Amino acid sequence: MTSDPLRAQFPALVSRPGHPAPVYLDSACMSLVPRPVLRAMEEYYTEYPGCAGRSLHRFAQEVGRRYEESRAAFARFLGRGDPNGVVFVRNATEALNLVAQGLDWKSGERVLISDREHNSNLIVWQRLAAERGVRIEVLELPDDGAFDGDALDSALAKGVRLVSLFHTSNLDGRTLPVREITERAHYRGARVLFDGCQAVPHERVDLDRIGADYYALSAHKMLGPTGFGVLAGTPETLAELRPLLVGGETVEWSTLTEHRLRPPPHRFEAGLQNYAGAIGAHAAIDFLEHVGFDEVGRRQRAVNDRISSALSGEKRVHPIGPTDPARRPSLFAFTVDGVDPHDVAIFLDEGYRVMVRSGMHCVHSFYARRGIPGNVRASFYLYNDRSDADALVRGVTELLDRVPGAPLSGTSAGTVVSSPRPGRGPPRAVGSTGAAARSAPPRRRAARGRAASAAGSG
Ligand SMILES: Cc1ncc(COP(=O)(O)O)c(C=O)c1O
Repeated sequence: MTSDPLRAQFPALVSRPGHPAPVYLDSACMSLVPRPVLRAMEEYYTEYPGCAGRSLHRFAQEVGRRYEESRAAFARFLGRGDPNGVVFVRNATEALNLVAQGLDWKSGERVLISDREHNSNLIVWQRLAAERGVRIEVLELPDDGAFDGDALDSALAKGVRLVSLFHTSNLDGRTLPVREITERAHYRGARVLFDGCQAVPHERVDLDRIGADYYALSAHKMLGPTGFGVLAGTPETLAELRPLLVGGETVEWSTLTEHRLRPPPHRFEAGLQNYAGAIGAHAAIDFLEHVGFDEVGRRQRAVNDRISSALSGEKRVHPIGPTDPARRPSLFAFTVDGVDPHDVAIFLDEGYRVMVRSGMHCVHSFYARRGIPGNVRASFYLYNDRSDADALVRGVTELLDRVPGAPLSGTSAGTVVSSPRPGRGPPRAVGSTGAAARSAPPRRRAARGRAASAAGSG
C-alpha cells in the first residue's frame, strides 16, 4: 500500500495480491485516471444516462447541463473568456485536423511547423500539400532547447498563413515561448495553432494571455478519459473553419434541400457526443486544480532531477534535448549505446516493473533524418515519487552492467547521421541489440522477446 494520499487516488498504482504496484513512467503517452474521474463517469451511466439536447426528460436535461458545465469549466481552466470558444472533439489529432482541413486553403499558401512535430501535426499538412498545394515551411529547432526568434521572423517573412507548433514537445520535453511566438506571428498577419497535448497537463495555460487562435489537447494525458479532447479557439477564429463532419446537432434547421449550421461550437459537434468523456474530463481538471500546478511541478521535477543526476555520469546514456531537467520537467528521453530502445523498455518492464515508452514517439521524421531507430522516454506526472526514480535508475544501471559495450559514436539523437537507407523510407526499429539484452535478462525474471510487437510503432 502507498502512504501517499495522492498516489492512493490512482487505482492503477495500488498493489494487489500477485500484482505489486507498477512504476508508471509513461504519462506522456497516457496519464493514469484518479478515482473522482472514474466516479464521475460511472455516475453518468448509472444516474442520468441520457443524450443532451434532444429529449426533454430529466436524464436528458441533467446530462445537457453537465455537458455545458464541462465546456464552461474548460474555458475557465484554459483562460478563455468565452465558453463558445471551446469545441469538444475526440482527441488532439481531431482538433488539429479540424483546423488544418477546416481552413479554406488556396494553393501556394504557407503553413509553418517545426522539425519535431508529432505526426498529428505533420501528416495532415502533407496531405494538404499534395491535395491543395499548401506549402510546408519547417522551422529548425536547436537540439539544446534554445529558441531563435529571428529564425521565426525569417520564416514568417515569406508570408505564412498559419503557424502550427507544439507547445511542449513529446520528444524531448522542451516548451516553446508561445506568447512570443504568437506576438511575432500576429505581427506578420499569421494565425497561430498550438498542439498543447504535453503542456496543459503540467502547467497553467492562459490562452487569452498567450493570444493563441487555436489550441488542441487530449484529456487522456491530463488524468481524463480516452477518446475526449478539446479544440479551443474564439467564436471568431472558429467561425473561419468548415466542420469536418455535419449531421445531427450541427444545424438549427433543415429542409430536404437546405440547412443552416448552428454557430460555433455546436456546429463542430456532430452526432451523439461522448458525454461520459466530457463529464470525466471536467472531473479531471477539478482534480488538477485542487492539487495545483505548483505541486504538480514540484513532484515531477523532484523525480526528474533525481533520475537526470543519477544517470548523468553514465557515458553510455545520452539524454535527448535540453541537459537541464528544469527545461524538460516532465520527461527524460535517452538512448543507451549498444542497446536497442525497445530492448531497454522490455528489460525495465520485465525486471523492474518500470513502464517507459520506446521507439519514435510518433515523431518518425526526427529519427528518419538522423538514421536512428528511436529512443527510450521516461515521462513523469504528479503521482510519481522517488521510489519510481530509483527503480528506473537501478534498472538502467543493471542493464549497462549486463550488456557491456564501449560508448559508440553517432548514436546520440543529437547527432545527425545519414539515413542507412536514403530515399527508401525511414529506418526500422529492429531489435538489433535484442540478442544481447535478452541473453542478459534482468535478475528477477527472464525477458521475453517483445520488441517485434512495438517495432515501428509511434
Ligand atoms: C505532442 C503531441 N501531439 C499530438 C498527440 C496526439 O494526441 P492524440 O493521439 O490524443 O490525438 C500527442 C500524443 O502523444 C502528442 O504527444
